[in-house]
Amino acid sequence: MHRIAMLGTGLIGRFYTMTLHGQRRSDRVSIAYSRSPEKAKQFAADWDIPRHTTNLKEAVSDADVDVVIVALPNHLHEEAVLAAAAAGKAVLVTKPLGRNADEALRILRACEQAGVFHGYLEDLCYTPKTLKALEAVAQGALGKVLWVRSREAHSGPHSDWFWNPELSGGGAIVDLGCHCIEIARSFIGKDVRPVEVMCWGDTQVHPIQAEDHAIGLVRYESGAIGQFEVSWNFRGGMDLRDEISGTEGTLWLNHWLRTGLEMFTAVGQSGYVSEKTESNTGWLFPVADECAALGYADMFTDMLDAIDDGRSPRETLYDGYVVNAIVDAAYASIKAKAWQPVMLKDWRGVQGETNTALLREYDANHLLVKEERMPDGRLKRILRHKKTGVISQVPG
Ligand SMILES: NC(=O)c1ccc[n+]([C@@H]2O[C@H](COP(=O)([O-])OP(=O)(O)OC[C@H]3O[C@@H](n4cnc5c(N)ncnc54)[C@H](O)[C@@H]3O)[C@@H](O)[C@H]2O)c1
Repeated sequence: MHRIAMLGTGLIGRFYTMTLHGQRRSDRVSIAYSRSPEKAKQFAADWDIPRHTTNLKEAVSDADVDVVIVALPNHLHEEAVLAAAAAGKAVLVTKPLGRNADEALRILRACEQAGVFHGYLEDLCYTPKTLKALEAVAQGALGKVLWVRSREAHSGPHSDWFWNPELSGGGAIVDLGCHCIEIARSFIGKDVRPVEVMCWGDTQVHPIQAEDHAIGLVRYESGAIGQFEVSWNFRGGMDLRDEISGTEGTLWLNHWLRTGLEMFTAVGQSGYVSEKTESNTGWLFPVADECAALGYADMFTDMLDAIDDGRSPRETLYDGYVVNAIVDAAYASIKAKAWQPVMLKDWRGVQGETNTALLREYDANHLLVKEERMPDGRLKRILRHKKTGVISQVPG
């Protein structure tokens, strides 16, 4: 059983606490930190948390606490993690790890030097659908993963600090793209080095100094491509979708707008339907269990089990660092209007992997390019001669 200090009492602090105190879980938030005494008190009362404070150091050094969760705005992650690591506590940090890769690397190194457990709270890599899909991919159902397209789009964040790039580190890319990038890494293989990024981003709608819409391509050393599509301008709720294509198969995931529960109401039921839903009448797509559907439940199970088992969780702060490095390359690409390298000062995966196209043997002289059954029932096989390279076609 773990005793947790929750730093931050905003949207994500609430989702995390709702998950941790949900069902029959025995881990407990035992102290809540907020800079405002009223909010700290209210949060503690809402979630039956015995203590609350406006002093961050007091929260992380609380003798009863063994785990610190950082659920604060992005510009406060470093200070909070450093304090928790210095206090010798296990540290779990929400996404993005830092505002940029340098900040993320300092955070990672502080935890490693202090020798404390660390986990990256990337919930969307833990949704039940994603875990199921990852298992299928690990078992080879899709063959070699070639393309992961991940999309997160909604009408924009709910608090002022997100819109200020000094505090947040950027716009939709650092806020939403960090999810999409890590989803792609999870399917492509976290050992596979991300090499370079080409990205378009622009400020289409909002009067801010950051991008509110972006589309990027991340090229991996294996030849796989990760595609992220992020927007703060999307109307109609939260569009959370992933598509994974491999040499042997395809997977499509829809996490939010078509979950299998669809309802029409002319009058509405209450104010809140699901995160980022813009209307409470008409056709609605309620989400049965948001904490599970967004991955928070499986994420905390993995994190807290990992502490108990003395192993690393599925998502560590090293993953957060790699994601920040890819995000940095995306911003550099927008500026340069060209592919930009992913600068990884610390790469721990495979070195120098080559992009091997899968060669399918047909006979002693030929490789199979493609096989297709035609509308009249015939099977066509397209072949390539191994020596001459000549392409030909034979009936199957
Ligand atoms: N799916 C996810 O994993 C997910 C979803 C939303 C947010 N987040 C992340 O969680 C973090 C917090 O986001 P949020 O949505 O909860 O934001 P929020 O604005 O709802 O809450 C932030 C909290 O920090 C407090 N705060 C703000 N400025 C502060 C300061 N200067 N000093 C001390 N406290 C301060 C606020 O009062 C509030 O309690 C961010 O890093 C964000 O990217 C993750």
